[in-house]
Amino acid sequence: MCGIVGYVGPRNTAEVLLDGLKRLEYRGYDSAGIAVFHQGKIEIRRNEGKLTKLEERIRGENFDGEVGIGHTRWATHGRPSDENAHPHKAGRIAVVHNGIIENYLPLREFLKKRGRRFTSETDTEVISHLIDEFIREGASLFDAVLLALDKIQGSYALGILFEGERDCLIGVKKESPLVVGIGEGEYFIASDIPAILPYTRTFVFMDDGELVLISRKGIRFFNVRGEAIPKEPKRVDWTPVMAEKGGFKHFMLKEIFEQPRAVIDTLRGRASEEKGDTLFEELSWDDSDLKRFRRISLIACGTSYHAALVGKFLIEGFSRIPVEADIGSEFRYRNPILGEDNLLIAISQSGETADTLAALREGKRKGSPTLAICNVVESSLARDSDHVIYTRAGPEIGVASTKTFVTQLVILFLLSLRMGRSLGHLSQEEGRSLIQKLIRVPHQMEEILKASPKIAEIAQKYLEAKDFLYLGRGINFPLALEGALKLKEISYIHAEGYPAGEMKHGPIALIDREMPVVVIATQNEVYDKVLSNIEEVKARGGKVIALASQSDRTISKKVDDLILIPDTHPTLAPILLAIPLQLLAYYMADLKGTDVDQPRNLAKSVTVE
Ligand code: AGP
Repeated sequence: MCGIVGYVGPRNTAEVLLDGLKRLEYRGYDSAGIAVFHQGKIEIRRNEGKLTKLEERIRGENFDGEVGIGHTRWATHGRPSDENAHPHKAGRIAVVHNGIIENYLPLREFLKKRGRRFTSETDTEVISHLIDEFIREGASLFDAVLLALDKIQGSYALGILFEGERDCLIGVKKESPLVVGIGEGEYFIASDIPAILPYTRTFVFMDDGELVLISRKGIRFFNVRGEAIPKEPKRVDWTPVMAEKGGFKHFMLKEIFEQPRAVIDTLRGRASEEKGDTLFEELSWDDSDLKRFRRISLIACGTSYHAALVGKFLIEGFSRIPVEADIGSEFRYRNPILGEDNLLIAISQSGETADTLAALREGKRKGSPTLAICNVVESSLARDSDHVIYTRAGPEIGVASTKTFVTQLVILFLLSLRMGRSLGHLSQEEGRSLIQKLIRVPHQMEEILKASPKIAEIAQKYLEAKDFLYLGRGINFPLALEGALKLKEISYIHAEGYPAGEMKHGPIALIDREMPVVVIATQNEVYDKVLSNIEEVKARGGKVIALASQSDRTISKKVDDLILIPDTHPTLAPILLAIPLQLLAYYMADLKGTDVDQPRNLAKSVTVE
């Protein structure tokens, strides 16, 4: 998730761009850059690092142009570096891009064969070369953009400059957000409202497959067939702070609602329904490599550890490779038995968690091959691992992990399926069926999010409770742990996650009318056992809030409150279950008035032991 901004107007273009990028830094901040006209040429200033570094670099420079584009980066393809920073210029075209070009490798090869030389590792650079190529063949800028879009697959919000038309800026939207600001004799494009709000409150919200052509003469909108289309300007009355949270009250709530998009981005280009298989361009393993692994160690902390526990079920279930899931701080001190046939997978959103990093280094010291599943490109964990697969959740501002957790589950699912297919435990048909269900998950997540008001009512109903018990079985047990962690870390209400079958070995003594019990009871092979656990709680006067499958016609009369999730494969249920658990915790914390985005005593990344 990056931030792009563009400007056409009489103000100091570089200043407007930098100001806009500052307001978009929450979308990504590992490198930044601008492209501005000066004496008829496009001047580019870009570098790795924070925006302040770019500001220092530009200080004192005066560009005479009235058109420019800017970018703040959250790396997905290519490490943070000056060369990989946007804008990317090829010939007379400069581009800034937010999104993922799925077919950038074949396009890169195609363009190289036509003599094009690439200077970055990014997917974005192919866009500037492609447009420039069509212009060289005689197309106008607008037609060259349309021709290039016809070749590109993936998601993009683009800002495009052309040296041949120095007062023109083109914006394009497909799946990544893009808004247009209309001021007095000036125009803006941006990934998000905050970048433009200080200059205007009149916006046009672009839809997928639309382009905007801006010049000092005015603004026009088109579809990808090049046909002019009408677009209705709207007035936005948000404050700048509200705008940064996309109108949500907290970053955490915004990030909970971003999860369908985060899953789509993480899935992009990695699941082949036709082959019934998954692919990671980052992993060069073939079947013989995978056959080498006799055991897999999944190491993580906190919420990422809960993802590791789900990963154990997924990998063992699909590939039959034995898996241990361990907490980083425990693993590193128990003299673990490792070696070259033991793959160590470290899972970390930040890639900077000290205990997880130390566990990874212990694994390397003992000769284990290592793989990181991480959300931050070039983080310490990513650099220390032999291999890395990135989640593409974008920056997560809320301290409580939400979208990064579900994208970790998606990567673990894809990896498990790959291992299962490679080792012959999953047929192509089985793989295809699983992928078809996986592809539906983002839509199903949207359905659950629509039911958020019902979850808010449940939160209100149990607000006075002092203790909660969360129960789950099998692959859903880690979600009981995660639900309990979410509640305690942001609302400060005590909560415990427990295997449902363990209740009679102690926790059942806690059950009374004062302690709500959240039970995860989606359809799977242990559903009947979970129903019995629910009855054990009810028989002792306990209150039960159940999370169940939409098709369940039994459970509603057995529980006090019911949250339904769409039917899916049991191995995909954890991804859907995360949302109601996050929302329940969020609404309770919000009602209690705690600092949801920065709960007391917590840090987003625990970089110390
Ligand atoms: C969970 O909501 C917390 N943010 C915390 O438990 C977190 O998951 C843990 O500190 C691990 O962080 P990491 O994923 O960045 O390694």
